[in-house]
Amino acid sequence: MDFQKKIMITGGAGFIGSHLVRLLVNRYPSYAIINVDCLTYAGNLENLKDIESKENYFFEKKSICDYNEMEALFEKYQINSVIHLAAESHVDRSIHDPLAFIQTNVLGTTNLLLIAKKYWENSIHENRFYHISTDEVFGSLNETGYFTETTPYSPRSPYSASKASSDHLVNAFYHTYQLPTVISNCSNNYGPNQFPEKLIPLAIHNILHQKPLPVYGSGENVRDWLLVTEHVEAIDTIFHKGKIGETYNIGGNNEWKNIDLIKLICDLMDEKLGNKKGTSTQYITFVKDRSGHDLRYAIDCSKIKNELDWEPKIQFREGLSLTIDWYLNNPTWLKNVTSGEYLQYYQKQYAQ
Ligand code: NAD
Ligand code: TYD
Repeated sequence: MDFQKKIMITGGAGFIGSHLVRLLVNRYPSYAIINVDCLTYAGNLENLKDIESKENYFFEKKSICDYNEMEALFEKYQINSVIHLAAESHVDRSIHDPLAFIQTNVLGTTNLLLIAKKYWENSIHENRFYHISTDEVFGSLNETGYFTETTPYSPRSPYSASKASSDHLVNAFYHTYQLPTVISNCSNNYGPNQFPEKLIPLAIHNILHQKPLPVYGSGENVRDWLLVTEHVEAIDTIFHKGKIGETYNIGGNNEWKNIDLIKLICDLMDEKLGNKKGTSTQYITFVKDRSGHDLRYAIDCSKIKNELDWEPKIQFREGLSLTIDWYLNNPTWLKNVTSGEYLQYYQKQYAQ
């Protein structure tokens, strides 16, 4: 194939992956973007309708857990870079079914590492294996302090433990086999196309349908929110300019207590739906806390700012407002993903 780079993006039909695929396909016509996704409940090709006919875009419905299929794809496309996002990504699901997280996040990642190592053995310097990870590997902060790239790992949920394991394996392949790896650990993302099991789209969906807004525990837990389009800009930066063997933290400098965030969403929704102020807060419902619920995540992203010149720019209110507008303008997307399997999961998760 006559492309400058042949990049395998795993999990490209998911929330962050689809934004990344769109960015790279449009920005780099000389790169072949090969989206490898087995389309779990979280994968949705509707996310990529606008770019699916581009000449530099390819889709393969395959699981990263299948070593032979992945090896065949490396051969078919002569893959020379991987940006690895495919994962089981929801903490609450990991509490119900940890094994699925180990299979995809740990074993699936190891398959890709082994294949990249084997396939790139003689051309190692032109290649890059970029692993997308989360700040949740660092565990839970109290009221003060920030996660830096040197904060010791202390994962506390099956999800974060599986991501931590995959990060360790990526680093092990760098040190042991000199595989050209790079890792980034990002804070909570929000934005269009996020599956409505995560807090922000769940709240938007439930206000729209006049359903309870479940707040775990007392709602005092803190998350640092970053707009997904800013995250994928950071990924593009790290992919091109990040140093091999390094890790970069990515964050929004934007900490919110869950309860305050939900109230802000209620206010914005009331404004946009033409409701009287305070209408949506009636749906706020405090429910049993998540088991092992991490209190606070907060990222120090000075390394990526100082070394690679990336920092978040979009104000949270603006990002949240455009996110809500997207959900209001895309009712069919929302309806399609909130049927079937999702409904069963939802009933299991919130039946208490
Ligand atoms: P997502 O759940 O929306 O998407 C995951 C995608 O991976 C889906 O398209 C799914 O079909 C695919 N997938 C799952 N198992 C697969 C398998 N075995 N083979 C091939 N494809 C498979 O997740 P997301 O929120 O877009 O997160 C993407 C990545 O970013 C994950 O690795 C996650 O850990 C990381 N991350 C997410 C956040 C966040 O706030 N969402 C923050 C930091 C890091
Ligand atoms: P979530 O979106 O699941 O992301 P993560 O657990 O990866 O941070 O949850 C964000 C925060 O919101 C987290 O503290 C748990 C809380 N939460 C609720 O209070 N209610 C909910 O229904 C959900 C899904 C999350």
